[in-house]
Amino acid sequence: MKRIEVIERLLPKVVKASASAEQFAPSNIALCKYWGKRDTELNLPINASLSVSLDYLGSHTRLIPIEGQVDEVWLNGQQLQPGAKFSRKVSEFIDLFRRDQLLYFRVETRNNIPTAAGLASSASGFAALTLALNDALALDLPSEHLSILARMGSGSACRSLFTGFVEWEMGQREDGLDSHGIPLDHHWPGFCIGLVEIDAGEKATDSRSGMQRTVETAHLYQSWPLQAAADLSRLHQAIAERDFALLGQTAEQNALSMHATMIASWPPLLYWQPDSVAAMQKVWRLREQGLPVYFTMDAGPNLKLLFQREDRDTLLQHFPDLETVEPFGH
Ligand code: DP6
Repeated sequence: MKRIEVIERLLPKVVKASASAEQFAPSNIALCKYWGKRDTELNLPINASLSVSLDYLGSHTRLIPIEGQVDEVWLNGQQLQPGAKFSRKVSEFIDLFRRDQLLYFRVETRNNIPTAAGLASSASGFAALTLALNDALALDLPSEHLSILARMGSGSACRSLFTGFVEWEMGQREDGLDSHGIPLDHHWPGFCIGLVEIDAGEKATDSRSGMQRTVETAHLYQSWPLQAAADLSRLHQAIAERDFALLGQTAEQNALSMHATMIASWPPLLYWQPDSVAAMQKVWRLREQGLPVYFTMDAGPNLKLLFQREDRDTLLQHFPDLETVEPFGH
């Protein structure tokens, strides 16, 4: 189904830029990954996923209506060329809302996480942009619809509309109106995420083309939807029972299984660097010594550690540069 048909179901045809707007959305880390699309135009996933939002780490986006024929896009304080990849993605997303109307914006996005380093800044970016458009155009849409719209910018963005644990239900409908984020009603005080930055540079293959290549070329991918479904139910159980070992093991195994499908693609996709492997081995060693720490990784070389607050100081001795976040507050 075409995006425009879905947009017609969600948005009024005539919109008006009534005001400037500024919004924040958090980045999110998937514990059960979204990897593979059944519809590339609408970003409809092959499997359901589950993430945790990163509290204060994410994107601030400001929209200012301007006179003109093109959007002005600023990223982290620098104006981008209209042809730049990020500018085009932003403008094409705003096209969904303005359709034929001559409504242009100065878009200022600031990420307090490294852009395109596998730390999901596209998720928080599209979520913050969706929220800001909702305000600037006085749309007053319900959060489910905002999540569906953000998903069309970047799949994982549909989870960044919410805080805490969030499930992205894959849905069954062709128009994707049942495929959006849903916040879980569970808190986990003391649950921590640590960011191990191996390389903050732009990666060679983005998630979008990486997952497409995997779906098209990796035989191993056939086992992925089953694995993801089993992991999702294990994560629900772990969260409901606050069983940290079950959560950690499930998330780590899920991430490594996703990476196995990437490596089995052609041409092969290996996002790891030697330092990524060294960090994984350090985590395994610490676990053997009795420290309950696990990792997850996205389409990039960086690790995200999962641990509990009481182990933070010990962990910092081994990962001194660790940036830690408590998704459920202190
Ligand atoms: C590995 O949401 O960036 O981080 O929908 O094509 O924009 P598009 O992909 P994107 O993919 C994220 C993939 C992942 C896993 C995850 O966050 O679930």
